[in-house]
Amino acid sequence: MLDASRAWRRAGRSIGLVPTMGALHAGHLALVAAARAENDVVVVSHFVNPLQFGPSEDFDRYPRDWERDFAALSKAGVDAIYHPSVDAMYPPHAATRVHVAGLTDNLEGAARPGHFDGVTTVVAKLLAAVQPDRAYFGQKDAQQVAVVKRMVADLDLGAEIRVVPTVREADGLALSSRNAYLSRQERTAAAAISASLRDAASAYASGERDPHRLRALMIARLGLEPLVEPEYAELVDAATFQKPGSLAVIAARVGKTRLIDNHDLANPFPG
Ligand code: PAJ
Repeated sequence: MLDASRAWRRAGRSIGLVPTMGALHAGHLALVAAARAENDVVVVSHFVNPLQFGPSEDFDRYPRDWERDFAALSKAGVDAIYHPSVDAMYPPHAATRVHVAGLTDNLEGAARPGHFDGVTTVVAKLLAAVQPDRAYFGQKDAQQVAVVKRMVADLDLGAEIRVVPTVREADGLALSSRNAYLSRQERTAAAAISASLRDAASAYASGERDPHRLRALMIARLGLEPLVEPEYAELVDAATFQKPGSLAVIAARVGKTRLIDNHDLANPFPG
């Protein structure tokens, strides 16, 4: 991958990188479209990263459909797909992990020990392999965005981190590769997650600023769905992930499937 990147760079072409784990949906394709609009060359990485899955998580059953993903990326006009094997990414002698302190302690970091070390290690390696001018991430994974931005700044990695708004289904559910796990009933119930963000955004727009009341409102809305089990609902600052802030972040289980979503309450909820 590095040789191709060097050739593009020598030819004066700008490079945009979209890191993905495959199982592509319209959210991923929005990142690709943003990269296409701003760069001469678009590279999509396609790698289910074992390092960011906990021992009891879904690495083995994570949806994989290379043929379908390849067709979607070809249609979207990407220039290259970086699709390394696990052994190529992590040879047996590999001993280095990238850890961002502080930002990774709470919320997703607390719920999924080691997850962000897996993310930052693979993203650092992807940035090294592709050497992009810009790399594209979804607002859907807001804490991931904050952690990756911190790493890129701290390690002088140079790439500009571009953040793309969350793509949603008609009922508000954020697109996610894990939505494929939901039964029909669970899929309907999952809309409570975005509905609770919508409720909080309208309360905020009407002047409600008390984080306890905004949080209670979100929990109450989630509670209307027996199939939805909230894990956290908090208000944090989008850059530090500390309180106070106007970014509402939610994690909830719908059946066995763990979903996350977020919305900055200072903005109207889309749709
Ligand atoms: P993955 O879950 O495949 O997501 C790839 C990118 O797509 C991430 O930046 C994610 O935030 C973005 N994305 C997912 N759903 C979205 C939606 N509904 N709207 C907009 N963007 C969305 O996130 C990862 O993979 C991995 O952690 C990765 C960064 C690739 C490192 O392994």
